[in-house]
Amino acid sequence: MTKSKKIVTTLFLALVLATLIGYWFYSTKDQREFSRVAYQDHCASCHGLDLRGSSRAGDLLAASLQHGDDTTSLMRSISKLDAHQNIIWPEGFPHTGTKALALFVSEQRQQYPTIPDSYQFHFKPKTVDSQHYRFQVETFSELKSRPYSIATLSDGRILVSEKVRGLSIVEANGLQGDLVDGIPKIYDKFIDADGSYLGWGHSLEVALHPDYEKNGWIYLSYADRCQLDCGSVIPQSMVKVIRGRIVNNQWVDEQTIWSVHTDYYTVVPDAVAGGRLAFDKNGFIYITVGGKSFYKNLHIMDTPYGKIHRVKDDGSIPQDNPFWVPKEQRQASSTRQTVWSYGHRTTQGLEGHPVTGEIWGSEMGPRGGDEVNKIIRQGNYGWPLYTNGLDYDSTEITIGEDLGLDFPIEETELPVVDFTPAPALSNLTFHQGDQFPLWQNDMLIGSLKAMTLYRLRIDNGALIEKETLVTQLGRIRDIEMGADGLVYIALEHGDTGSLVRLVPVDYN
Ligand code: HEC
Repeated sequence: MTKSKKIVTTLFLALVLATLIGYWFYSTKDQREFSRVAYQDHCASCHGLDLRGSSRAGDLLAASLQHGDDTTSLMRSISKLDAHQNIIWPEGFPHTGTKALALFVSEQRQQYPTIPDSYQFHFKPKTVDSQHYRFQVETFSELKSRPYSIATLSDGRILVSEKVRGLSIVEANGLQGDLVDGIPKIYDKFIDADGSYLGWGHSLEVALHPDYEKNGWIYLSYADRCQLDCGSVIPQSMVKVIRGRIVNNQWVDEQTIWSVHTDYYTVVPDAVAGGRLAFDKNGFIYITVGGKSFYKNLHIMDTPYGKIHRVKDDGSIPQDNPFWVPKEQRQASSTRQTVWSYGHRTTQGLEGHPVTGEIWGSEMGPRGGDEVNKIIRQGNYGWPLYTNGLDYDSTEITIGEDLGLDFPIEETELPVVDFTPAPALSNLTFHQGDQFPLWQNDMLIGSLKAMTLYRLRIDNGALIEKETLVTQLGRIRDIEMGADGLVYIALEHGDTGSLVRLVPVDYN
């Protein structure tokens, strides 16, 4: 072999080896995950490797645990029970160790699928016996691609916004019509990572004006895309909200309701764009914008990221917004005049309460710490300085401190409901209508990874009832009450989706 051939062969072998090691490292990362290893080292000898218990200690996956199974109770059990006093933690065991172990135990108890598995799940019709009702979960419509949002019309039709296709109407018989013509251009995904679509220029939410029956206004949020016109080779995008009407399947009368300077368009893909919309009872619309940027910007009012914005239903800017200043006193590109609340990670759900008009939102935490929040004027929701979750590697989230953020937790709005471990909460609605009267005004909230629909009853700002309504449903993107009083749910699976509905067994 010549010398150069030897070098090429050696380099080639080194590359193959590096690829194999990289692959092994990636595919076994869960096995090396801190809390899993800590469990094996310190707990498995009594509770069993599979958590199913042994002659020395009980089953940690049992339907109910004697000392409670929320994160706080688990942490207390691990650190306080007499049975555990002889556990010797190694030197340097992190102070987050107990919490990481509690999260590990509760994650194992939930048995959530992996994200790719959740995308592969296909729902099957079934009957559910819930606390208050026996109901059927049935398919209403098959969709051509993944939905992000639905809006129900009084005649039984449903508007559907699909991420990479745009807007269409599902007829009252469940058949999906052609795409509505004339909405802004929607772009296909760029790649698919672990099942989730990454791209720029996706369609987001569709919502009806509260007086839709009289004025016909339909609101649409989407990720507006620019590329060379923004001086960038890689596409950039940002949430934009418009309204228009649909006449003969044609989008007409378009007006811009909320948009930002292209300086704030980013290369961060649209999966964390937000774009959820909600109306209150006083003619205002609220718009969520995810942390599509460096987290420090979440606390800088001049940037749109990690905020909930508020404008009037016609897009004009209310002067009573908390950070409003006259035009002359702000940079041309500033968004401070529309900021209503801030410090949000990614608000994936937003809805106005049908009675009080209060705005409620949901957001995903990191590992643990999904939140249901009441959104208030000038509220600071704390991310990334405060969260009930841990980082994915079991350590404390230090992003906020690293960024130099500094404010006391007392100045933040705490979640009304905390979901730990995190089911990946998505959109929510409030129950209205006469088919399930015992659920009146209860919050119905979906999840992606956990594929579960929850019912929450919140009274005076406190959770008083929480029910896991339907499990094994699929990745829930949106929930709306139909004019017929049935609950309509948009699911995404594979590259398609469906609309399913909850129907009481005695429905006719
Ligand atoms: C030496 C054996 C032993 C080891 C090691 C041990 N446990 Fe336990 N554990 C027990 C016993 C015994 C109980 C029941 C004690 C009681 O109910 O007061 C228990 C109770 C618990 C409970 C409460 C169960 C319930 O029904 O409420 C949890 C949670 C728990 N252990 C988690 C852990 C974790 C996590 C570890 C590892 C850090 C661990 N245990 C290590 C023996 C052990």
